[in-house]
Amino acid sequence: MQAKKQLTHNSQTPLDSLFENIAQDIIEQGYSIQRKAIPKELSDILYFHLSNMAEYKFSDASIGRQFSQQLDETVRNDTISWIHGNSPAGAQWLSWTQALQSYLNRRLFLGLFSFESHFAHYAKGHFYKRHLDAFKGQANRVLSLVSYLNPDWKSSNGGELVIYKSASDQIGTKVLPEYGTIVVFLSEEFEHEVKQALQDRYSIAGWFRVNTSTADKIDPPL
Ligand code: OGA
Ligand code: MN
Repeated sequence: MQAKKQLTHNSQTPLDSLFENIAQDIIEQGYSIQRKAIPKELSDILYFHLSNMAEYKFSDASIGRQFSQQLDETVRNDTISWIHGNSPAGAQWLSWTQALQSYLNRRLFLGLFSFESHFAHYAKGHFYKRHLDAFKGQANRVLSLVSYLNPDWKSSNGGELVIYKSASDQIGTKVLPEYGTIVVFLSEEFEHEVKQALQDRYSIAGWFRVNTSTADKIDPPL
């Protein structure tokens, strides 16, 4: 019988073990930090795509959604570009996140329904102050996923993601935005921030959402 072909992410851990490790971490602590998690070929195609993207495709990041959108550069000053999946790189990214979504739904019964994500560029000096990605009661963004596309990132470059375990946690857990690292966390539970980057810093931030559509409100917004 032919051996089952294993999808691998860095020719070490099979994709299923990566997804299972994430699921376990979410159950045990609500967040997961995984280095070298994105398959190398996928990181490379995303990185290549990003390197060839014109700066005009990025726009100032705003805070909040839809009608409450506001620009507040004292909170964040990165620029973003939404990923729609109409480039081969975007399509491969969304297919990988879809696989993760299906796995976590089967394993954790989260009922994740859709995924939205954007590239983010933090130029030198840029940051994103401590915040939550979702607010209790507006249960739409359930799980946040951040991944990094910075080859050879050094700790002296700053730009760490800091995850705070509770509102009173002032120290947090620091994550370097290294190529292939991903961080997954419950959007309503974990405040986090991006420390000032001292070099160009690229990430993809994404959110798995539940469906909150009703007869007079389509979700996600078109
Ligand atoms: C965000 C965010 C973290 C990062 O976009 O909401 O928290 O490390 N990004 O880029
Ligand atoms: Mn965030």
